Amino acid sequence: MMERIREPEIMNDMEQAIAYAKADFSESNQRFVDNLLKDFKPYLNNVLDIGCGPADIPIRLAKAAPAVRITAIDGSDAMVGLAQKAVKDAGLDMQIKVVKGYLPGIALEKHSYDVIISNGLLHHLPNPLALWEEVKKLAKQGAAIYIMDLFRPQSAEQAKKIVEKVSGNEHPLLKRDFYNSLLAAYTIEEIKEQLRQEGLGLNVAQVSERHLLVKGLIKGAE
Ligand SMILES: C[S@@+](CC[C@H](N)C(=O)[O-])C[C@H]1O[C@@H](n2cnc3c(N)ncnc32)[C@H](O)[C@@H]1O
Repeated sequence: MMERIREPEIMNDMEQAIAYAKADFSESNQRFVDNLLKDFKPYLNNVLDIGCGPADIPIRLAKAAPAVRITAIDGSDAMVGLAQKAVKDAGLDMQIKVVKGYLPGIALEKHSYDVIISNGLLHHLPNPLALWEEVKKLAKQGAAIYIMDLFRPQSAEQAKKIVEKVSGNEHPLLKRDFYNSLLAAYTIEEIKEQLRQEGLGLNVAQVSERHLLVKGLIKGAE
């Protein structure tokens, strides 16, 4: 198995953030929202999105579930700016609050979210346990967790093939970041071990040729 190669944590570069925001993730982001609704609709009250990027997922979720309230955080000024503009343009300021927040140590009220979502963040973190600790700190007892990320392919060759297949026509910056992200991603086994260390009884499963999903309820649910 190929070793993990870290990539820069925060997507602070404006050009990089814009290339990301312009890319078309509509299919996988809509699938994320559709499946979240299928699995956890009754839980969808106060939602936290960690590492929201340009806020495409919160916007899709807010449109699909008008009663939901979402706090969307990201550690990058460039991304927060793009997310705030996208939320405003979509007329969803009442439903989605975008705030700058960096983990570890997000300054939000403890145990106050019914659902915590995250997509594409985990592989950015030098210490992945930071995400699981934040989840334990911010989730209500019995909250639903729905966290998706890439998983690391067996080889660099395979990573290149995935990039060409999925984003062959995208901006070169985006393709570079995607390739680096695949190499920086964790394997399913590594994530199972992280969850074991943190005492989180969540399920991890491969859900596409490049994505894994961590989902389940925080202990204490009836
Ligand atoms: C690949 S993007 C995913 C964005 C979005 N969730 C989506 O699905 O399109 C990862 C995001 O995580 C943010 N990020 C990385 N490390 C972070 C940290 N330690 N704290 C907060 N945000 C972080 C980056 O700035 C970036 O916007």
